[in-house]
Amino acid sequence: MQPADADGFPIGRHPGWPARLGPLITARGAVALRPPRLRDGAAWSRIRLQDRAYLQEWEPTVVGGWQERNARMAWPAQWSALRGMARRGQALPFSITVDGDFAGQLTVGNIVRGALRSGWIGYWVASRLAGGGIATAAVALAVDHCFGAVGLHRLEATVRPENQPSVRVLEKSGFRREGLFHRYLDVAGAWRDHYVYALTIEEIPGGAVHRLIESGGASRP
Ligand code: ACO
Repeated sequence: MQPADADGFPIGRHPGWPARLGPLITARGAVALRPPRLRDGAAWSRIRLQDRAYLQEWEPTVVGGWQERNARMAWPAQWSALRGMARRGQALPFSITVDGDFAGQLTVGNIVRGALRSGWIGYWVASRLAGGGIATAAVALAVDHCFGAVGLHRLEATVRPENQPSVRVLEKSGFRREGLFHRYLDVAGAWRDHYVYALTIEEIPGGAVHRLIESGGASRP
């Protein structure tokens, strides 16, 4: 039987997975990333049902109602799907925690190896914790991990131009705007333009965490 970590993920099949990253100290508390757990379901559902208006505006349109897709009962299937992608080396799905409590999600998806060695990054944070540097700290941890243990060379992120908080997160994290994808993604029921941002390993020689700490956005414990 393949050795597994405390969350049941097989160890050693894909570089950099499973992983626990951080913490970094922010204005809202200690931010860390860890693989999603089945018991995240209660907090995941509570936050997503409360934050529907805040999240729905930016998330891809998915079949089914918000209530039903974000009910506590919906989590095991989502958790299992994320876990499956991680097992196949296609994604790095993280729960973001603040002082140990579930606070949101960060996913590195569409991981392609070979000569491309790239992936995209996406995230959300509970509205009651927003504006305290959590997403930026989480992105910095993920960037350094992807360019380190995971062995990627480039990360991309797409964001609606109207989503200024997320644009700020990417720009604070060193991502560079490469262009505008027209009518790129079906979000909140319509085809929405998205900026594409990218970062390659050469652009952040000291690492994203180092850069964030230098700018005063977080500190080490
Ligand atoms: N206009 C301009 N800037 C804003 C606004 C606004 N209305 N609101 C907040 N900001 C700024 C903040 O001041 C902060 O910048 P600063 O440090 O220069 O002051 C920045 O936006 C937010 O930075 P953080 O505090 O690190 O981010 P936070 O933890 O608040 O999380 C996030 C940001 C993830 C975008 C959160 O708002 C969220 O979950 N939104 C809903 C879901 C979402 O949009 N996810 C991102 C989709 S795009 C993608 O995944 C690539």
